[in-house]
Amino acid sequence: MQYLIKQYPLESGALEIQYIEEYFGEFPRRKTAREIIDRLAVRLSLILMAEAPLPDDPAGALVPVSYKIVHEIRGDEHDGKLRDLVERLHGHVSFDGRRVLYSWIGGTRRDWRGQGHFRALTEESETWAIANGFDEIVVKTKNRYYDMRTVLSQLRFNVAKFERNPLDNDESKVYLTKLLQADLVRGHRSVRTVVHAD
Ligand SMILES: CC(C)(COP(=O)(O)OP(=O)(O)OC[C@H]1O[C@@H](n2cnc3c(N)ncnc32)[C@H](O)[C@@H]1OP(=O)(O)O)[C@@H](O)C(=O)NCCC(=O)NCCS
Repeated sequence: MQYLIKQYPLESGALEIQYIEEYFGEFPRRKTAREIIDRLAVRLSLILMAEAPLPDDPAGALVPVSYKIVHEIRGDEHDGKLRDLVERLHGHVSFDGRRVLYSWIGGTRRDWRGQGHFRALTEESETWAIANGFDEIVVKTKNRYYDMRTVLSQLRFNVAKFERNPLDNDESKVYLTKLLQADLVRGHRSVRTVVHAD
C-alpha cells in the first residue's frame, strides 16, 4: 500500500486538525485551532495528515484519516505545560546540547485503524526529524490508552519513565522515547507520497 501524506503549514494545518478531531470519540477535550497555533507558532513543528479514499465511493474522494503533530521542546521552556513536561523528564531525557522532539497529538479515525496510516505518519516524522537535526523523540501517554501503548511498542518506542497516579493507576502517565539515529530510516517500512498543502 502506498500512503498519501499531506504536510500542512501552521494555520491551515491547525484548522484541519480541529476538523478531524470532531471524528474522534475518545478524547474528552479536543484541541482547538487556536491552541495548536499558539503552541506551534514559536517553535519548529511538523503537521502531517494521511488521506485515503472513502470506501465504496465511485468518485474515489479522499478524506483525512490520520494525523500527527510533532514539535520541538527545549530545556528552558517558558510555556507552563511544556515547562512541566521538561521537569518531569528530568533525569530521563537529556536536553544538554541535544535537540528533542515531542510527539504531541495524533490519531487515526476508527474506520481506518490498523491499516498502517499511523506508522506511515510516524516514519515520515522521523525522517523529517533526522533531516532537521533532532536527537530524540519523546511521547507521553496514559496507562489506560492500551491501543496507543501497543502501537508505540510496535513503533519501537522505549519506556523512559512511569509516573504512577496514586488515586487511579489507569491514569498513570507513561513517557516513551526513541533515539533518532541516521540508520533508523533504513528500517522504515511504509511507502509514502508526501505533498505540501497550501
Ligand atoms: C493508536 C492509533 C493512533 C493507531 O493508529 P493506526 O493508524 O490504527 O495504526 P497503524 O495501523 O499504523 O498501526 C501501527 C502498528 O501498531 C499495530 N496496531 C495498531 N492498532 C493496534 C491495536 N489496537 N492492537 C494491537 N496492535 C495495533 C499495527 O499492527 C501496526 O504494527 P506493524 O506496523 O508493526 O504491523 C489509533 O488506534 C487511535 O487513534 N487510537 C485512539 C487514540 C489514542 O489512543 N490516543 C491516545 C492518546 S496518547
